[in-house]
Amino acid sequence: MTTLSNARRARSLVRGLIAGAAVWVVAAPLPAAGQALDPTFTKDIAPILQRSCQKCHRPNSLAPMSLITYDEVRPWARSIKNRTGLRNKMGTMPPWYIEKDIGIQRFKDDWSLSDDEIATIAAWTDNGAPRGNPADMPTPPPFIDVDEWEIGQPDLIVSSGAVEVKGSAPDWWGSLGQADSGLTEDRYVAAIEYKERNNLERGVKTDTVGGLFVIHHSSVATIGPEGSRRNLHIWPVHEVGRNADVFDEAAGVMLKAGSTLMFSSTHLHSNGTDATARLEVGFKFHPKGYEPTQDVQFLFFGNGPDIDILPLQDNQRMDAYFTLPENTKLSVYEPHMHAPGVRMCLEAVWGTTVQTLNCSGYDHNWVRVYKYEDDAAPLLPKGTILHLTGYFNNSLTNPNVADPRNWSGSGHRSVDNMFINLLQAIYMDDEEFAAEVAKREQLLRLTGGVDIGCLVCGANEAQANAGGAQ
Ligand code: HEC
Repeated sequence: MTTLSNARRARSLVRGLIAGAAVWVVAAPLPAAGQALDPTFTKDIAPILQRSCQKCHRPNSLAPMSLITYDEVRPWARSIKNRTGLRNKMGTMPPWYIEKDIGIQRFKDDWSLSDDEIATIAAWTDNGAPRGNPADMPTPPPFIDVDEWEIGQPDLIVSSGAVEVKGSAPDWWGSLGQADSGLTEDRYVAAIEYKERNNLERGVKTDTVGGLFVIHHSSVATIGPEGSRRNLHIWPVHEVGRNADVFDEAAGVMLKAGSTLMFSSTHLHSNGTDATARLEVGFKFHPKGYEPTQDVQFLFFGNGPDIDILPLQDNQRMDAYFTLPENTKLSVYEPHMHAPGVRMCLEAVWGTTVQTLNCSGYDHNWVRVYKYEDDAAPLLPKGTILHLTGYFNNSLTNPNVADPRNWSGSGHRSVDNMFINLLQAIYMDDEEFAAEVAKREQLLRLTGGVDIGCLVCGANEAQANAGGAQ
């Protein structure tokens, strides 16, 4: 036996002792209040996997392994416990990074796990991951294929030209050209989604989301028929692994007849296999005759010029500020950084009121769009200052950074950096805003508690109680 394996044995003995001691200290921990007792796969775990994991973890989808049957899941039990236990940190499963102990918690399509579910998974794993009674197994939910549209069949699909990406090609950044929309009348867009179409074989190489795709991101703009800059409209960006955009019901976005799509800023990232790829843009329209009552504002704000990411350092912080020019309802929170980004917070400051709207972890492998539930979306009066804080880890402990010995500044390539929140919002006049606030106050009266993000909720009453001075 070699010295090396002796050393290994000694180390694992020490680990065993430490683990033994820990078990002794925390002997028989009490389960959390909502955690399942003696959880089994069929009764407790399968429903969690169906809701939060199988969208990706099934054959021919995004993830490296299928997590449907007991036999598929059992070998991954410990890994599942570890990944789900990361909560909002990089590497967590499912990829959802909103911090649950601060800020607004109600989002559309939230597939994250509750603390009780995380505890149930951990207890199941620690009990030896039992199968349980097969009769408890829930019926499988229907799923759409990774290559199908999340928003349903689009009313209009426009494709970029095809591009060849060699397996060994370096990163490439440029334009995929233009495409005629073929649209013959003005229409309002309810939702937009992007799909990369390529000739890579499915179900072969899916260690990362990038294994199936080569178009890392592309920002898409349309120009109206006259072709002037005035008619330029910039749509939400396509990024690999990003979810679709469904606009606020009242705020459909106009796509003009005769528009041309421009795929002007595209980043191609080869994945080791030669591929031919193109990008499809799917538009879902509102019915003819629909008129929006509100406009979507893309409040992309952050700080580019001052980005100064030092080599080999964790905990680097940046701040950015933006004063809202109008009364605002925020509908989307979307942190955007690059590889060293690990966390972002958004705070609202109005007079002496300061509220943290949200904090979230960040993992550049998973770009996430968080859509607020309509009655939880922040209502921010004109003049509110939004304060963004970003945290960067450019050290060896961040596996996303290719080489943390490098300094980096602002730029579009993945080795450069960004610090932005791609907020989407609706501006409101005083009357509309007061009506929204009144609706929230009504809700608050029913439920009690505090509405984080409704900065002026209760302010009118407080003012009235204080003598109604204007
Ligand atoms: C949006 C798609 C998606 C969802 C939803 C998702 N996963 Fe994953 N999962 C992936 C991908 C892609 C990987 C491989 C890349 C990575 O590790 O981030 C992965 C990796 C993993 C791994 C590590 C595999 C390894 O090789 O070590 C585990 C364990 C895991 N997922 C469990 C889960 C569980 C449990 C859930 C639900 C609670 C879940 N995932 C939800 C896409 C997803």
